[in-house]
Amino acid sequence: MASTASPATPAQLRGGVAPLRAGQGSTFLWRRLHSLTGIIPIGAFLIEHFFSNFVAIEGPAAYTKQVAFLAGFPFVFFLELFGIWIPITYHALYGFYIWYRGDMNVGDYPWMHNWLYTAQRWTGGIAFFYMAYHVWHLRFSGAHILADPSVAFGKVQNEFQNPFILAFYAIGIIAASWHFAYGLWLFTAKWGLISGDRAQRRFGYVCLAVGVAFVVVGGASMYAFLSTPLQSVAPEGVRSLVMR
Ligand code: HEM
Repeated sequence: MASTASPATPAQLRGGVAPLRAGQGSTFLWRRLHSLTGIIPIGAFLIEHFFSNFVAIEGPAAYTKQVAFLAGFPFVFFLELFGIWIPITYHALYGFYIWYRGDMNVGDYPWMHNWLYTAQRWTGGIAFFYMAYHVWHLRFSGAHILADPSVAFGKVQNEFQNPFILAFYAIGIIAASWHFAYGLWLFTAKWGLISGDRAQRRFGYVCLAVGVAFVVVGGASMYAFLSTPLQSVAPEGVRSLVMR
């Protein structure tokens, strides 16, 4: 039966979510920037961070060398400020805004991509609180890792002495891995890099493998800290005085 209802006019549509159109308003630009920062530089940093921590499987001396290598970069303050802190703050705050503006409807439409949409928001939120805790404890309180890289291994081990914190680390690693892996898929779809149902489905499996690889690497690093005898967190100068 033909419907007599007239189609919605642009004026009637105006009350909803702002349209995502190139050349209209600034939302498009902010969304693209949010998407891009997820890969470069935050995703790239995440890869480096997981790799650097994986060096822990070679023992405290190798780990200290890796931390010293990173701390020895020129202009490390500016590298971190523009390469990590500003992009991650932007991505996180705009991510919460996107979350707030969107509608969760997995209860009504329990389709896979709806679940993935919801999981992307929750894993981002969990990663945010995890990173805030992690950065505060390991970077901005207690012994200074950049000033004395030899305390880094013991500092992480100290964190793992509390089973709740240990569990929080495991959850944080899983959340960040999931978020980045599905984020890769979202990014390639949004930027038109991979199109077509078949290609997107196949790339979905690649992203799944990436997520699993991150969890395995993160889990192996945690195991390395847990299975090594506790290292001292006293600065190197104090340690050599005690040993004399
Ligand atoms: C571990 C650090 C993080 C990394 C590596 C990361 C990476 C990514 C990537 C690659 C994407 C896909 C980009 C796209 O949608 O095209 C993404 C999307 C997203 N991220 Fe993050 N992110 C991180 C932290 C966060 C945090 C803390 C939040 C805060 C809630 C967040 C919220 C979001 C949201 C809501 C989306 C989906 C955007 C959309 O559907 O349009 N992310 N992230």
